[in-house]
Order: sequence, then C-alpha cells, then structure tokens
Amino acid sequence: MSIATKTSVSPTFEIDSDDIGWITFDDPERSLNVLAEPVMRRFAEMLDDARAAGREGQVKVVVIRSGKPGSFIVGADVDEIAAIEDPSEAEQKIQLGQAILNDVETLPVPTVAAIHGTCLGGGVEVALACTHRLLSDAKKTKIGLPEVTLGILPTWGGTTRLPRLVGLQAALDLLLTGKQIDARKARRIGFAAEVYPEHIFQEMVGDFVQNAPERPRAGSQRKVNLVARLLDGTALGRKLVLRTARKRVLSSTGGHYPAPLRILDILDKHQTGPLEQSLTAEASLAAELVVSAVSKNLVHVFHMREAARRGTSATSGDSAPRTVTNLGVLGAGIMGGGIAQLAAYNDVRVYMKDIRHDAVTGGLQHARQLFDKAVKRRKLSTRGARQCMEIVTGGLEYHGLSAAELVVEAVVERMDVKRAVLRETEQNVDAACLLATNTSSLSVDEMADALKRPERFCGMHFFNPVHRMPLVEVIRGSATDAVSIATVYAFALKLGKIPVVVGDGPGFLVNRILGPYLNEAGFLLGDGASVGQIDAQAKQFGMPMGPLRLIDEVGIDVSAHAGAALREGLGDRLTPSPALVALGETERLGRKGGRGFYLYDQKGREREIDESVYADLGASVPKERHKLRDRDIRTRLVVQMINEAARALDQGIVRTAAEVDLAMIMGTGFPPFRGGLLRFADSLHPKGVLDRTRELETKHGARFEPADLLVELATSDRTFYEAFGT
Ligand SMILES: NC(=O)c1ccc[n+]([C@@H]2O[C@H](COP(=O)([O-])OP(=O)(O)OC[C@H]3O[C@@H](n4cnc5c(N)ncnc54)[C@H](O)[C@@H]3O)[C@@H](O)[C@H]2O)c1
Repeated sequence: MSIATKTSVSPTFEIDSDDIGWITFDDPERSLNVLAEPVMRRFAEMLDDARAAGREGQVKVVVIRSGKPGSFIVGADVDEIAAIEDPSEAEQKIQLGQAILNDVETLPVPTVAAIHGTCLGGGVEVALACTHRLLSDAKKTKIGLPEVTLGILPTWGGTTRLPRLVGLQAALDLLLTGKQIDARKARRIGFAAEVYPEHIFQEMVGDFVQNAPERPRAGSQRKVNLVARLLDGTALGRKLVLRTARKRVLSSTGGHYPAPLRILDILDKHQTGPLEQSLTAEASLAAELVVSAVSKNLVHVFHMREAARRGTSATSGDSAPRTVTNLGVLGAGIMGGGIAQLAAYNDVRVYMKDIRHDAVTGGLQHARQLFDKAVKRRKLSTRGARQCMEIVTGGLEYHGLSAAELVVEAVVERMDVKRAVLRETEQNVDAACLLATNTSSLSVDEMADALKRPERFCGMHFFNPVHRMPLVEVIRGSATDAVSIATVYAFALKLGKIPVVVGDGPGFLVNRILGPYLNEAGFLLGDGASVGQIDAQAKQFGMPMGPLRLIDEVGIDVSAHAGAALREGLGDRLTPSPALVALGETERLGRKGGRGFYLYDQKGREREIDESVYADLGASVPKERHKLRDRDIRTRLVVQMINEAARALDQGIVRTAAEVDLAMIMGTGFPPFRGGLLRFADSLHPKGVLDRTRELETKHGARFEPADLLVELATSDRTFYEAFGT
C-alpha cells in the first residue's frame, strides 16, 4: 500500500464545557469535505483522542459535524479511487476505511452525526456508524450513496449498515440507484433520528446531545406497514425482494453493470449474519469492481460531467457570464412550453410569446401539467408548484420581453420565419439582451445574418422532452461573442442541464452523429435484417433503445426531414436509405401517430413490432427476413457513429474527444459504462476502427469511407483522447 506523507488538519476534535466532544470536518484546502486518505488518517487520530476522552469520562457524547456551510461530507476522493490499479491495494485501502468507521461505532460514548447539507457516499457511511443521525430540513440536505454510479459499491460499511438500519427495500432504493433523498424522506425510512428546522438546527443539536440516548431509539421514526414488515422482516420476504430487485437490475442494465449485482450478492448472503463477514465481502467485491473497465469508464463520465459543471475551455477567458433572472421564450409549443416550465422551476421569471392565444394557453397548460407531475412525484410541494406557476406568463405582445436578459426562440423550424421573428424581437428588447435559437437543424449563422447585433446571438439546443433530457448544445455562431456563450452556458447549468459548446454545422453535434447511425438501420433493413434484431443488437451494445424505436419516438416525418437536411449539408454519404425514404412516404408517423416500426396504444405505450411495416419499406427490402450476424449489425451501427464523430472533431465542431463523449451520453443515452463513443473507439484503437471501416467500405460502398482523421490517427498511432484530450 502506498503511504501518502501528506497530512490534513481536518477534522479537529474539541471538548466543550458541557463535556461534549466535537469532531469537525472543515478542510481548508477544499470547498467541500472529501474523505481523502490524509483526512481519513487524521480522522483516525481524532477518534483515538475521543476514545481516550470517553474512557476517562471527559466526554459524554461525540458529535460529528461539518464546518462547511451547506454541506456535510461529499464522500471519498474520486481521484484516489480512479488511480487504483491493483485489487489487493484497493482491498487494503478499503479495510483501512472500514476499520476507522468501526472505531466510530465502538466509541465508548454515544455518537451523533449532525448533518446540514449534502451528505454523500463516505459521508453517509460515517453517519451510519454513529448512534444517531440528526438532519436539518434545508433544501440542500441530501442523503445519497452514489457509488453504484461509479461502478463500485458503498464499501465502508454502507452496504452492510444501511439495510440493517432502514430495512432491505428502502436500502435497495438508495444502494442500487445512487439517488439522493431529502431530510423528510430520510426520516420516513428511519435514517434520521430527528429532522430540525434549518434556522435552529445548531441549537436543536445542542439540546439533543445534552441527553443523547446510549442506543438508537427502537424502530426510530420508521413507519412500516404490514407488507413491508413481511418483506423486510422474514427470510422468505427478503429472498423475494432480492430476486425481484435482481430481475429489475438485469432488465434495466442488460447486465452491463456488475456493481448493483454485487450489492445484491452481499445482501443475499450476509444481511442477517455477522457484521464482519458482510464487511469482508464488501471489501473483496468492491476491490474487484474498482479496477474494472466499467468502473474506470464511469469515473471518466463523472469527471466529464464535473468538467462541464466547472465550465470548459470553450467558456473560459475573462468574459464573466451575465445573470439571467428574466427569460423570454418565443413560441409556446412543445419546446417553448417545456423551456418555460424548466426555467420557472429554477426560479427564473418567464414570458412566453406566441402568435396564437390558444398556443399560449397550451404552453401554460403544458407547464402546469409538468408541475403537477412533480408534485405527485414529491419533487415539489403544492405551494412550490403554485409559486412556480406564478412566475410564468404569456401573451401575444412583445412588451412582455422588456425585462428579459435572454430570449430563447422556439418557433416553427423554418428559416424565413425564424429570421423574421428574431429580427422583430431584436427591435423590441433591451440592447444588452441576448437571443438564442432552439433550432435543431438550421444554420445559426444564417439567422445571425438577419440581426443587427449578431454577437449577442447563439444557439441553445434543448432536446425533447426538455425537463428530462440532460443535454443542451450551446451553438457558437461565427459572430457570437464570449459573453453570450458564457451566459447561455451558465444559464443551462442553472437549469440543471449539461451544456456542451459546439460549432455551427449541419445537425450540430449529436444529431449529426445520430444521422448516419439511424440511416444505417435503414440499410440493415434493406439487407433483410428484422426490426427486432436491429433494435435488440443496439440495446445489446448498451443503447437505451434501438435505432428504429428511436425513429418512431422522434417521428418518422421529423426524422425524414432531418435526414434530408443532413444530406444537403454533409453530402452523399448521408443519402437516406431506400427503406427509410419509402417509409417516409407512407402515413406512418411513429409513436405520435400510433404506428411506425412498432404499434402503440392510445396512451402512446409501445405494444409490439408492427409486422406489416415491412410492406411499407419499398422494393429495396427483401420479402423474407433473414438473420444477419449479430456482431455485424452492431459494428455497422457503431462504426457509422465513430466515423461521423471523427469528421465533426476534425472540422472543429467540438474541441475535445470528451465533449463528443459527454454530448452523446447526455443527448442520446450512449452507454455510460463504455465511457463514451470515442473512448470506446480508443479501446479498439483508431487502427482497429479503421480496419473495420475499410472492410465495410469494400462491402457496402462509399458511405463507409473512413474519415481523414481516423486514417491520420491510425497512421500516427494516436488515440482520439491523445490527439484531442484537452
Ligand atoms: N420537438 C422537438 O423534438 C424538438 C427538439 C429540439 C428542437 N426543436 C426545435 O424547437 C423549435 C420548436 O419546435 P416545437 O416542436 O416546439 O414546435 P411547435 O410546433 O410545437 O411550436 C411552435 C410554436 O411556435 C409558434 N409560432 C409560430 N410562429 C411564431 C411567431 N412568429 N412568433 C411566435 N410564435 C410563433 C406556434 O404558434 C407554435 O405554438 C423548432 O425550431 C424545432 O426544430 C424541436
């Protein structure tokens, strides 16, 4: 094991005049408390002091708290995890952490975790080792075990202690998803002994610790109904819960993610046995996971997201973003209504302008429905939803836009209409107001041409549905200035989105890469593959849905239109496949019309593949289906994406390989366990990709012509990340 020499001054241990011992985490070198190795070593020392003081009767209780405003402890150091290459080194490190938290558990006096703000991963595990957990009711107080999203499992006792405290079902809900819960929920499941109002939190903690009970209160505040008691409290019930959870994990992950399965293994074998055996299993299974390719890829995704949050090279410089507190939205349709709702949800005042009264009413209604859903899902209180709705207004007049610092245009996808609307808007807003277009396929520069202040204009491309899709492409026009990019970028972050800055070009980034992939699915149909086989193979690779199902989702008409625009912009390699052209000429619209490649019920739920679709695919598609080799299908689909991404990168649409990867994961659900499209390509090396691309070119023609960049990288023996790392 490597012994780091660096020491930390956090946490500290003090005893006050009431004989309360305070262990305070407040790392002066970081804005958040992270349980890095030097901090853990220091923690162990402070616990030794606390133990000695407890034995000598100098302290009656030990409180673990944070000195950071609004955050407790956010977990282990992800960089340390990423650096581990050897499972035995991992296991030793894990055991060290486990031993320290065992020290917390075995202190001779009661222990209290006083949690105000974010408490994640290792922070939760520290709290679980305490006798009591007290939470503030602040919005910022969140409890979560995100390890599974990094391909590992909570291994400082989290997998072991959480189910023992809150019951199997509530524990699985956190362990298998990595989701975060608020203080109310934490009390409901029995994690928190008490939840106190934020403004008197310190005083209430002070009161509690004066007479802190020796042991946790029996059953704490946990409310358990009979069924839950049977499921959590009997061997048979637990088996059933675990079996159901395993099935669910396998069906939602396709078995690509081992960590949730290992968590289930541990609970299956050790939940009711001795603590030590369960901890040993945690350590040995996590040690294997930490060094796995899946975990390394998921940590890479974590780093890309963090980098996007901090702002990338594309937004750096001395151009500070302007704050947007008033937003204008042009067009109250599907996208406009969605953008307005999202803005209001994030405390931004919105005015939606349309040319039709009924559209404005529809847009407002759309927003209201989404708020109602958030209330139902307990994401928002009824009062919160009402307050959000109060800041969304709409109308036909421009004067509603007078206070806007940013106006996002989401009117019909026609260049002449967009140019006219933007020009008119520019004349009716403050001179400093920024304009952005939500176009999915039209040129930002061509729109900018119609404006007097093209420097204050860019693209802000949301994906549908707005409230759910995490990506926003921020499109830099050739005249766009740095402040506009920085402002729109910061605004996207404020809305909880992951922005990626891209250049102006056909399909921008994500739709451009998706285009040849979807089109290849059409060629596969032409070669006799079935809808079921094509979609199953894409899912087998890890895509959340197959390409044909995706075409249904987007709309067959919209896809055909987008495909034609891409061909116009990018040339003949994007010539639509005859099968998709033929389909575009039929009445089928996809999910919105009830039938496409699949049939849908009245609520839009997928029923089954529509076997009659083959008759609508034209003469290029053979009468009889025949099975193609599964691997060939996956290769054709994925190579098309990599080849197009190489072109986009070469043309400067984005600057780094990581931006391609983040955009594809956030915009299309490209499988995170693969780390991203180009990271996957690098795992085969550009040489390997080039060989396959050339084979496909020989067999299927020019649409597989390798991108210049692919050839260049293969020849110079560099990977995408080596050539486009930063
Ligand atoms: N729907 C999607 O999946 C999606 C995804 C990303 C981007 N986009 C883009 O977003 C934009 C809007 O798409 P949508 O699906 O919301 O369309 P939509 O048809 O649902 O809504 C367009 C709205 O714009 C209004 N409108 C038309 N002319 C106007 C004008 N001169 N001034 C103000 N309002 C006007 C219409 O009345 C309508 O309410 C398009 O550019 C589209 O390409 C759509």
